Amino acid sequence: MKVLAILGASGHGKVIADAALMSGKWEQVIFFDDAYPSIQSVGDWSIFGTTADLINQSDLYNGVVVAIGNNDIRLLKQMVLEQGGCQIVSIVHPAATVSPRAVIDKGTVVLAGAVINPFSVIGQSCIINTNSVVEHDCILEEGVHISPGCLLAGRVEIGARSWIGIGSCIKQLISVCDSVIVGAGAVVVNDITESGVYIGMPARKHH
Ligand SMILES: CC(C)(COP(=O)(O)OP(=O)(O)OC[C@H]1O[C@@H](n2cnc3c(N)ncnc32)[C@H](O)[C@@H]1OP(=O)(O)O)[C@@H](O)C(=O)NCCC(=O)NCCS
Repeated sequence: MKVLAILGASGHGKVIADAALMSGKWEQVIFFDDAYPSIQSVGDWSIFGTTADLINQSDLYNGVVVAIGNNDIRLLKQMVLEQGGCQIVSIVHPAATVSPRAVIDKGTVVLAGAVINPFSVIGQSCIINTNSVVEHDCILEEGVHISPGCLLAGRVEIGARSWIGIGSCIKQLISVCDSVIVGAGAVVVNDITESGVYIGMPARKHH
């Protein structure tokens, strides 16, 4: 029996559980969350313990993924799990389209309807969320979240831990630096070189 352990009993965790089970690569999922034992279940899945329990009970599962939306916390948790000897895996929904010429690092999840086109390179612990498009030759560093319905044109580069908000668009060849938040529905047509929050069309720094 191939069992996936998911750290983070969130809505995002439920989506990852579904993707993993539907992919046929995992037969069962078990959840862990640091709010345990205050919370004991998520959807119809049981929670087995905290991060420490996950590390100590490696006989229960065959791979681990972190399902935490906050980019900094997700990366940190993945690092702690790796130091604890956990094998971090990536999850690709069967209805996602990932080019065989794209590269996806460990801990990254690619959800239903997402498309990753040739020669794009996706770092560790990224979220490529529902129905988003990462066109050809994009580079996403670690801990990036591309929210549902985002469109990244060709050769876009996104720095570590940046969060691209739901339904936003980024023009081809644009570079976004580390730790940026692009607000919902923004249209990014100029490079972003300073961390911060950017909204609107064209996207401008939000003060
Ligand atoms: C940009 C964002 C981070 C700002 O959050 P915030 O700092 O809490 O901002 P607030 O909600 O307090 O809004 C502040 C102002 O900015 C405006 N605003 C907020 N988000 C905006 C957006 N995406 N585009 C345009 N204006 C926006 C608000 O209307 C408000 O305007 P007002 O002061 O005139 O009333 C947030 O609104 C956002 O877009 N998050 C992305 C959500 C997302 O992608 N979710 C998907 C998860 S999978």
